[in-house]
Amino acid sequence: MGHNDPGQDDTTRQGQAVAFLAEARVIVDGALEHWLPDDLDGAPGLAEAMRYSVQAGGKRLRPALALAACRAVGGEDAAALPFACAVELIHTYSLIHDDLPAMDDDDLRRGRPTSHKMFGEAMAILAGDALHTLAFDVLLTHTDDDAIAAALGRELATASGSMGMVGGQVDDLAGGGIAPDADRLQRIHERKTAALIRASVRGGGRAGGASEAQLDALGAYGAAMGLAFQITDDILDVTGTAETLGKTPGKDEREQKMTYVALEGVDGAQARADREILRAREALAGLGGQLPGRELLVALAEFVAHRDR
Ligand code: IPE
Ligand code: IPE
Ligand code: MG
Ligand code: MG
Ligand code: MG
Repeated sequence: MGHNDPGQDDTTRQGQAVAFLAEARVIVDGALEHWLPDDLDGAPGLAEAMRYSVQAGGKRLRPALALAACRAVGGEDAAALPFACAVELIHTYSLIHDDLPAMDDDDLRRGRPTSHKMFGEAMAILAGDALHTLAFDVLLTHTDDDAIAAALGRELATASGSMGMVGGQVDDLAGGGIAPDADRLQRIHERKTAALIRASVRGGGRAGGASEAQLDALGAYGAAMGLAFQITDDILDVTGTAETLGKTPGKDEREQKMTYVALEGVDGAQARADREILRAREALAGLGGQLPGRELLVALAEFVAHRDR
């Protein structure tokens, strides 16, 4: 369990979340297997490097959120599946690049040597690039409705680009070694991590036919959930083990990263994550109705607050 022991209800929700993450993994990994290249004549090693990082695993939280949001507005999984896979491809590319020597310089990811350790820096950069563009290829090729595909592509591009994840990564690197500042830190976390998580939830809802009011509710849920997720990532860097996390803990302090743990300690950071999770759950009231996907979104919020990986 995570830092705070959850109560009985929360323990049940954790179980629901873990079961749903396993279910989503089967659905998403089946599609990814199909859509990842397996032999690229003339680009030796590229397909292997792309598959290596995607198929190493990971929690598949973002695609699970997309599928749950789609169900929460009454949509079928198939409608959100290309988008869910696209999000995971973007996320995986971001991890490969985040681990590069020029960035966080990590050796272990998803329980395996990092891409650049395995294949060299040039191939790691290029495998990341290829996963990034494959995401949009999968989304645009396999989403049936062209208008929805265009809206999803825009959502994903905005969330992952200079105004979202990439901008946040630039600020994360610039923030190293500087005294933590609450406002600046929140802006970093909102963009480097929460933006893509928010897009995962909203995009899943949009693919499932959400109304504008429902998209607003899903967006508010996703933003709070995404912030909580990066706060618990910062906590796990201090409290977690390499065996469970599949990555090397203790890096943030060594690299003097600006984190909520550095700012307000593990307990303060956990209290902040819990507040964000509460906000995420409250936002779901705006969804209306009581479709099963909504319970999954509540369960996934609980998972994020108390995760150990
Ligand atoms: C790690 O994300 C990077 C962050 C944005 C904090 P995850 O913890 O979701 O990584 P995987 O997908 O499970 O490997
Ligand atoms: C990464 O944040 C956010 C990304 C956009 C990849 P971290 O640098 O804290 O992620 P980990 O701890 O290496 O997974
Ligand atoms: Mg980083
Ligand atoms: Mg990192
Ligand atoms: Mg981290």
